[in-house]
Amino acid sequence: MSITAADPSGRDHRPALLAVLDAVDRAPGAAASRARSYGLLGVAEGTRLLDVGCGGGLAVAEAGALGAFAAGVDRDEGMIAAARRRHPGHAFAVAEATALPYADGAWDAYRADKVLHELPDPGAALAEARRVLAPGGRAVLTGQDWDTCVLDAEDGRLTRTIVHARADRVTGPRVARRFRGLLLDHGFGEVGVEVTTAVLTDAHWLPLATGLAEAAVRAGAVTSEQAAAWTADQVARAATDRFFLAIPVFTASGTRGR
Ligand SMILES: C[S@@+](CC[C@H](N)C(=O)[O-])C[C@H]1O[C@@H](n2cnc3c(N)ncnc32)[C@H](O)[C@@H]1O
Repeated sequence: MSITAADPSGRDHRPALLAVLDAVDRAPGAAASRARSYGLLGVAEGTRLLDVGCGGGLAVAEAGALGAFAAGVDRDEGMIAAARRRHPGHAFAVAEATALPYADGAWDAYRADKVLHELPDPGAALAEARRVLAPGGRAVLTGQDWDTCVLDAEDGRLTRTIVHARADRVTGPRVARRFRGLLLDHGFGEVGVEVTTAVLTDAHWLPLATGLAEAAVRAGAVTSEQAAAWTADQVARAATDRFFLAIPVFTASGTRGR
């Protein structure tokens, strides 16, 4: 579940990242969760929607199909190139979430899906969201809490260590539980929080679990022998239709105050 293109080795992990994001987009409940975000944003004909950290640009295309004037920004040039390739005719630009190249009040809707956990200062992004939104504009933040990954396994204690070690490799692993506070702190009202849980039982999700163990080894939190035993348990579960991974995903929304 490593979802960042940054790699100290210098290798380009973008194709792999896009493949993971595509798989996540196809996961049970993902389409409904995106549709819910457009509903919470009040997307209608002519809504000016900005998707920040847009990745491959799917949400921009979907919101555009609903009649919005939708645009996507991402700090990663490769992501923007992929978004342009996949969704020609839509507006995409390279930009930082904390320095958006738009005038005050330029947008009616702001969306950041699986993005704020990558930011060292998510508050700066929220301040920028408030700035570019028109009064009464809506913001929706979506993401998982990386400490809260529910996996069935023989060794529950080792599972907890592995999940937390993977979470510790994320810049802001617990930002999702702060979404509500961040919106309130930055002048948003009518703040609400919802959670949907992706329940993944198909064997093809096994790499998400084994990836956690690999990350825990790299972090020095578990030995390779421990990771191998834990992985073997997960492989056996997948082979006997007993794989179980559940990821609660939080969606917080708010209205920009006047
Ligand atoms: C996990 S991906 C999610 C992409 C997309 N929102 C989705 O739901 O598929 C996170 C994206 O946020 C982008 N990102 C991370 N930090 C950013 C920042 N400070 N400003 C703009 N984009 C950022 C990354 O380049 C990446 O494309």
